Amino acid sequence: MRGTTPPAITAHLTRRYTSMPPTRLILLPRVSSAFLVRHRAISMPGSAIRPNRYWKSASPASKEARQRSFVDLTEPDALEAAITPATRFVFFETPTNPNMRVIDIAQVSQLAHAHNARVIVDNTYGTPYLQRPLESGADFVVHSMTKYLSGHGDLIAGAIIGGADDMLSVRSVGLKHMTGAVLSPFDSFLLLRGIKTLELRMVRHCESALALARQIESHPVVESVYYPGLESHPQYSLACQQMSAFGGMIALELSGGYEAGVRFMDAVQLAQRAVSLGDAETLVQHPASMTHNNYTEEEREAHDISLGLVRISVGLENIEDLSADILQALDQATG
Ligand SMILES: Cc1ncc(COP(=O)(O)O)c(C=O)c1O
Repeated sequence: MRGTTPPAITAHLTRRYTSMPPTRLILLPRVSSAFLVRHRAISMPGSAIRPNRYWKSASPASKEARQRSFVDLTEPDALEAAITPATRFVFFETPTNPNMRVIDIAQVSQLAHAHNARVIVDNTYGTPYLQRPLESGADFVVHSMTKYLSGHGDLIAGAIIGGADDMLSVRSVGLKHMTGAVLSPFDSFLLLRGIKTLELRMVRHCESALALARQIESHPVVESVYYPGLESHPQYSLACQQMSAFGGMIALELSGGYEAGVRFMDAVQLAQRAVSLGDAETLVQHPASMTHNNYTEEEREAHDISLGLVRISVGLENIEDLSADILQALDQATG
């Protein structure tokens, strides 16, 4: 399947989720689509700008390949100040992982294009069901299909979507020289089966996440809840405009910092402790003790990750069972 995408997947995703011919989709087997973008497949020497991501690359190739600046893209002035004639790409995700900032895709795209930079949006959190970045002006969309598109936490795949000429270069340079393996027939089967229920699952993820976010907002151990569907979210009106619903991811800030986060993680019973997201099961993670535990305090702060930040990927369980579990874990987090 090297260089090609199973026709049924391409047809479904391109027809259902974008109206922009000549868009092409390439599936990337067992490799992050972000990896291809960060490396050479669709880039040239120059700088890439992306917002506060949770993850640092350990790859020597990416270190020497290009300069990157990290910019808070919720502040358009910050992008304007950071962009230079050498900037080739502006790369961001929205909502951002893990702290759920919402970035204005149309505004960033306009600004980037005015400086001849191209825009890559990681739409893993949003999914094609909730937002369509190409229609808002982005040049490329990347997905970790490991998450909502597969939906069951049982495969690893990525996708990159863009114009036909760009995809030709991804296919000829990226797939030929960089990714190696191909998506197995069984993984392709699972992915197809997952995509069939994307809409059904997203409706349920969104409904449950909104209900849960509202419930936990008033819990005494919770300092803040970051969910774009809450009116208290700083980019609530942008989220209403840009997204058709608000997704299944919630971030919350616990008073009591690191220890409260650990107590919460120890207390959940129905929810699973795991760093992935978008599965049928609710997954909880505490960045300070898990994904970011090797960050220095300065690095953590630079990425806007506090000691008490907890992320919930709201699953498909019965909402009463789920909220009972999360609320009892919050009670225990109080200490
Ligand atoms: C928003 C987002 N994009 C991309 C990735 C990378 O995904 P994968 O490991 O499937 O390549 C992740 C992984 O957690 C993610 O959360």
